[in-house]
Amino acid sequence: MSDSAINDNDLVLLYLKQHKSWLIRIKKGEKTHTHAGFIEHNAIIGKEFGSSVESSTGKTFRLLKPTIADFLMRFSRPTQVVYPKDLGMIAAWTGLSPGKIVVESGTGSGALTAFMANLVRPNGHVYTYEIREEFMEVAKKNLQKVGLLDYVTTTKKDAKEGIDIKDADIAIIDVGDPWTLVESFKNALKGSGMLATISPTMNQAEKITAELLEKGFIDVWTVELISRELEARTGMTRPSMRMIGHTAYITFARKGV
Ligand SMILES: C[S@@+](CC[C@H](N)C(=O)[O-])C[C@H]1O[C@@H](n2cnc3c(N)ncnc32)[C@H](O)[C@@H]1O
Repeated sequence: MSDSAINDNDLVLLYLKQHKSWLIRIKKGEKTHTHAGFIEHNAIIGKEFGSSVESSTGKTFRLLKPTIADFLMRFSRPTQVVYPKDLGMIAAWTGLSPGKIVVESGTGSGALTAFMANLVRPNGHVYTYEIREEFMEVAKKNLQKVGLLDYVTTTKKDAKEGIDIKDADIAIIDVGDPWTLVESFKNALKGSGMLATISPTMNQAEKITAELLEKGFIDVWTVELISRELEARTGMTRPSMRMIGHTAYITFARKGV
C-alpha cells in the first residue's frame, strides 16, 4: 500500500464539515457512530487520505490525515492548555526543532508537551515536571494516544525542588507562580538557552520579567498574540463575528552566565 493509503490502526480525521469532525483510530471490523449515521472502518481501510466514504445514511465524510493541532484540540483537558496560536509563537522564538532537549513545568494536560515532543523527535526529548498526580496521568494518556510518549519523560515533582537535567536547550514554565521556578530552570539550562513562560495575567508577566532580569537573563520581552479569523466568501469577506479574546502573555528570555 502507498504511504497515503489508510491502514488498520491509523489515526484518521473523519471530516463532515467545518467544526464537525471525529478523530478515530481505524480498527478492522469496527464502526464509528455519528449523528449523521455510522461508518464501517473496513470501508476506509485501503482508501487514500483525502478521499471520502459514505455513512449508513448516505452522508459524505472526507478522510483526512490529522495534524498535531487536530490532536491537541481533542485532548482531555482538566487544566488550562496552551492554544495553537501561542504554540506557534513559542516554537518560532525558542527554536524548537529536532534534537533539542526541553525542560518544562507544569505538564498540565500535556498539550504543550505533545506539541514540543512532536517537534524535537526523533532524537530530542522533553523532560516535564508536574506536581499533581492526576494531571500527570491525564497528560500521559493524551501523549500515549497520539504516539508521542516515547519522546517525553514525565516526573511527578514540585519543580521548585530542582530539575534533574543539565544543559537543556529550552525551558518552558507554565504555572501560576512562574517566578518561583526561575532558579530551578536557570540551573537546568545551558548558557544562552531559551526560556519561555506563559502568563494568563499582566501582573504575572510583570512579576516574572522582574525575576528574570534579577536572575541575569538577557533579552527579556513579552508578547500577546491576537488572532482573528476571516470569513472569506466571494464579494463579502469580513472578520468572523466571534474571536478568542484572550489566552496568555508569553515572556521570552535567554540565560546569561
Ligand atoms: C496551566 S497548567 C499547564 C498546562 C500545559 N502547559 C498544557 O498545555 O496542557 C499548570 C500546571 O502546572 C502545575 N504546577 C503548578 N505549580 C507547579 C510546580 N511548582 N511544580 C510542578 N508543577 C506545577 C499545575 O498542577 C498544573 O497542572
